[in-house]
Amino acid sequence: MTSAPPEWTPRSWQAKPAAQLPTYPDAQALQAALAQLARLPPLVTSWEIENLKTQLAGATRGERFMLQGGDCSESFAECESDAIVSKLKILLQMSLVLVQGGKKRVTRVGRFAGQYAKPRSADTETRDGVTLPCYRGDMVNRAEFTAEGRTPDPQLLLRAYERSGLTINFIRALIDGGFADLHHPEYWQLGFVAKCPNAADYARMVESIGESLRFMEAVSGSVMADIGRVDFFTSHEGLHLHYEQAQTRQVPHRTGWYDLSTHFPWIGQRTRALDGAHVEYFRGIANPVGVKIGPGFTGDEALALADRLNPNNEPGRLTFIHRLGADRVEECLPPLVEALRRQGKQVLWCCDPMHGNTEATAAGIKTRRFERILAELATSFRVLDECGAHLGGVHFELTGENVTECLGGASGVTEADLTRDYRTRLDPRLNYEQAMEMALMLARLMSRKSNGWKSP
Ligand code: PEP
Ligand code: CO
Repeated sequence: MTSAPPEWTPRSWQAKPAAQLPTYPDAQALQAALAQLARLPPLVTSWEIENLKTQLAGATRGERFMLQGGDCSESFAECESDAIVSKLKILLQMSLVLVQGGKKRVTRVGRFAGQYAKPRSADTETRDGVTLPCYRGDMVNRAEFTAEGRTPDPQLLLRAYERSGLTINFIRALIDGGFADLHHPEYWQLGFVAKCPNAADYARMVESIGESLRFMEAVSGSVMADIGRVDFFTSHEGLHLHYEQAQTRQVPHRTGWYDLSTHFPWIGQRTRALDGAHVEYFRGIANPVGVKIGPGFTGDEALALADRLNPNNEPGRLTFIHRLGADRVEECLPPLVEALRRQGKQVLWCCDPMHGNTEATAAGIKTRRFERILAELATSFRVLDECGAHLGGVHFELTGENVTECLGGASGVTEADLTRDYRTRLDPRLNYEQAMEMALMLARLMSRKSNGWKSP
């Protein structure tokens, strides 16, 4: 018999061990920045958050599918029009492909408008005999390797909030404008499809997306009518608890506290200790929450986290974002699913096929292979199905631009290409063509599943 956890407040996490938080040299400057942040208006609203929770409850029941994706870490320098448009475009286009393949509504969640704090495996970095704090994301310090750059600066919390606000403002405006041509396959850059193994299938799929959009526009006179109002939700790793706390509010006519910095915060693999600060903070907010889980996570831990984070077993509240690796998923996932199923726990299973499949090339470049990413997705799909559960979402690190960070795919990025346009400061992302091909492959898996695993 475990006793009820003590009372929660937005700051009760401060009494717990907090992994991965920066140490600020000037505590007063930190408090001054947080006091400002706490007065600034919220970035999202409670009704948007509740809408997302309802949609994720649908995904938990198998009626919807969640597509979550974006940069490993956003950077202040890339808070600009083209980068934001291309991220929305790739997520929107992928979602239309998934609607077509899965015959389900798709909930789009960007890793954007707040993905500015990063966990690191070491606190410091040494170059040529000089040791400095490591870079922890634009919200914390600067990537440049100087003592000044690497010192955590509380003003960056305010800059991160402002950049998040600018990003979300532009996203809302693009959504209201109906995206012009972004959703029409005739304007997509799909030349690479001809080189895919299932090219004919994909060409048919894209053609039927175009047909259904044209049909719906003809009968309703409006764009995007077939999938209802297009909405995008925001998400980021809720790592920097001071930042999250400052945006945690009560709102009129609702009970509870909302983290109004984002719709869907998640706890990272490195900060999910049951008695740690992050789980303590997350248990008290009303948002839907995610937890990243890697190999070594046990069924007992899964149950304890589900009890702590979702004591009322509310569908849509808790998503496990598994990132087990293509080699480990078959062995690691079933015991978790079984443990939760035996106790009737409501969780949404979402596969992050990126973080368990990172490797370094012989030249020391951090990369990921298209076929490993796809293998983890396909195995997760099958394994969850065999366990009587289902994959309800996917989580990608991607960009709408033609970077060369991940290997493979029909467009054939090779090791020699990696140096050509390798831009990420942290993890390698799928580029536009790789992400679209992944969506086409995933749609094929979804349609085969709905046909009882027979080829379409
Ligand atoms: C991430 O999503 O960029 C990340 C650090 O993931 P994880 O917590 O799963 O390692
Ligand atoms: Co990452």
